[in-house]
Amino acid sequence: MSNIKHVAIIMDGNGRWAKKRFRPRIWGHVRGSSVVSEIVQAADDINVKALTLYAFSTENWSRPVEEVSILFKLLKKFLLKEQARLLKNNIHFKVIGEINGLPEDTVTLIKETESLTAKATGLKLTFAFSYGGRCEIVRAVNQFQIQNPSKLMTEDDLSSRLYRPETGDVDLMIRTGGEQRISNFLLWQMAYAELYFTPSKWPEFTAHEFKRIIEHVSGRERRFGNVTPQASFQLSVERAENNKAVFVQGVLS
Ligand code: FPP
Repeated sequence: MSNIKHVAIIMDGNGRWAKKRFRPRIWGHVRGSSVVSEIVQAADDINVKALTLYAFSTENWSRPVEEVSILFKLLKKFLLKEQARLLKNNIHFKVIGEINGLPEDTVTLIKETESLTAKATGLKLTFAFSYGGRCEIVRAVNQFQIQNPSKLMTEDDLSSRLYRPETGDVDLMIRTGGEQRISNFLLWQMAYAELYFTPSKWPEFTAHEFKRIIEHVSGRERRFGNVTPQASFQLSVERAENNKAVFVQGVLS
């Protein structure tokens, strides 16, 4: 069984993919949204527990109005098309981010899909929409301070106040499109994540590549700041030897 439970993806490269084909940028987003369905299915097939997709960042609000509005429309279209499949596949859907600025009908549809799938126990699917990692952390800190004016905050206090705490830490972050940045995505949750950057642009990313990356990364050793189990065993043997020597010295002196 894979040790990769929570996968996060920065779906980058839509614009460049379209430009290379002499098409408008939004063409890339349209193609990109059909890849979303394919990757959700693939994650479910291989028993990933949580999949978080970066669909629209707080910084993306500064893009041309037409592009922003296409992204909202694609989100709406995706939800209308996939709602039944999410339910059938027991997928628990949520959006994280500051969605209040989105068109009212899109917000209504998001809330409807969230509540329809709220009891699902399978894949936790999250779209980060109008999302920023710093904003998420500041929001959690402010919430804690209001609730506990004179207490110091712990890591658990913060983790439990993130948008979707139940998805936990990210095990693997994939970024398509060739850039090597994390772009304000899940900053807190990615503290120990494996990072994988692929040159494939999002519209050309496939379920096959996704599964191959998971397989590849599952083979990496993750030490979480510790040493390898072998080195850890060696250290404890050395420590025991050392303690024995100190004890014998004490007895003899
Ligand atoms: C980055 O590519 C991508 C985005 C800002 C949007 C990602 C959106 C989708 C994949 C489609 C939305 C689908 C749903 C279901 C919400 P870019 O345009 O910055 O690419 P570039 O770096 O080549 O310019």
